[in-house]
Amino acid sequence: MFKKETYQQRRAALREKVGEGLILLLGNAEAPANYPDNTYRFRQDSSFLYFFGLNQPGFAGIIDVESGEETLFGNDVDMDDIIWMGAQPTVAELGMRAGVARTFPFRRLTETVQAAVAAGRKVHFLPPYRYDNMLLLEALTGIRASVARQYASIELVKAVVSLRSVKSEEEIKEIEDACNIGYEMHTAAMRLCKPGVKEQYIAGVMDGVAASYGSMVSFPTILSQHGETLHNHDHSGILEAGRLMLTDAGAENIHNYCSDFTRTVPVGGRFSDRQRDIYNIVLACHDKAIEFARPGNTYQQVHLSVCKVLAEGLKSLGLMKGNIDDAVAAGAHALFMPHGLGHMMGLDVHDMEDLGQIHVGYDEEVRPIQQFGTSSLRMGRRLQEGFVITDEPGCYFIPALIDKWHSEGLHADFLCYDAIEKYKDFGGIRLEDDILITADGSRFLGEKRIPITIKEVEQIMNE
Ligand code: GLY
Repeated sequence: MFKKETYQQRRAALREKVGEGLILLLGNAEAPANYPDNTYRFRQDSSFLYFFGLNQPGFAGIIDVESGEETLFGNDVDMDDIIWMGAQPTVAELGMRAGVARTFPFRRLTETVQAAVAAGRKVHFLPPYRYDNMLLLEALTGIRASVARQYASIELVKAVVSLRSVKSEEEIKEIEDACNIGYEMHTAAMRLCKPGVKEQYIAGVMDGVAASYGSMVSFPTILSQHGETLHNHDHSGILEAGRLMLTDAGAENIHNYCSDFTRTVPVGGRFSDRQRDIYNIVLACHDKAIEFARPGNTYQQVHLSVCKVLAEGLKSLGLMKGNIDDAVAAGAHALFMPHGLGHMMGLDVHDMEDLGQIHVGYDEEVRPIQQFGTSSLRMGRRLQEGFVITDEPGCYFIPALIDKWHSEGLHADFLCYDAIEKYKDFGGIRLEDDILITADGSRFLGEKRIPITIKEVEQIMNE
């Protein structure tokens, strides 16, 4: 964790942004996988981590907005725990690391919250996403677990989003560390990508690389020759010469900061002419995003300008036609890219998604566009120095979607269906890097850039 002053400053800043009442931040508990003692890998709640830094299960923190008093609730281990887990720091010691002097056993949380509720004070909490925390909130506040998300404090959500959106120098170092692990994962995958190799084997090696340098993967690895399926977790295929392998994966470093990269490479190490054409269009989209992502521009504008580069490129190949501005305004390009350009990244790979995408990626100024494709853009708002976002354009040939649109004659003024039909066996290409918005532009995160040009990719695959 960072030094305690970091957490003290963050909590003080949070208190400044919330008018009155108690701020209740719940950590996560262990989650059983198939029986109580066999748990999933523990993952702390990211906002609890951000404000208290403690990566142990079974904690909660309260900040009293009016008095400034901060309290940490958790239980000291008993002898049985020590026998099985070894000696553990006390709650008081953990409190000191987080800069919190007042600590209590976890059961005292109930009386503290109930006293505030009885006194008519506002208790601010974030939208719970784990069922045990929904039940805990019901016990603490009387709000039924099934509706607890609806009663979350929008004031607290907005305050947390405003703080967590802008990454500090020390956070950027952690994200760079996660990106460096991502480099190792993806270059290992490129070297292994040969005909006859099982997708599962490469995905497993990547997960192992993530685990050996950091905490684990930042989300379940997406790796498939069927890259046209956007989030393909089915790794049952065996690589075949002439196909493309799309790999979307990242690491969570030891301090729980994330990376998220995508590369698409030719099985066997050489792109065909048809693959090169589409690949270079996606790469041009990626370059456009980097050129245009800077303070002052909205990410929605960046997304739309990237869609125009995609449509222009596809027109040059005879797959689209007509006026490109009109085609993108109508949403015709979404046949090929039915997703958004990117999302915030930090302690979560989709940073703060639990708080509600509308509060993280949008604001009063920039509202979501409800059109197929662009409606999936998670991050649309105006860029600021210190934002970390992903830049992930793609081009996919999804047979079922092509069939549907073709049969409906959708956007027939802009789509050359006869030509598109011939690409139904193509798969998909996505290229993704993680970028930091700087004072006057943006820069890639990570010490070394994962090979991305056709020359770089073919070189590493044939070394
Ligand atoms: N790269 C995976 C995702 O953005 O969901």
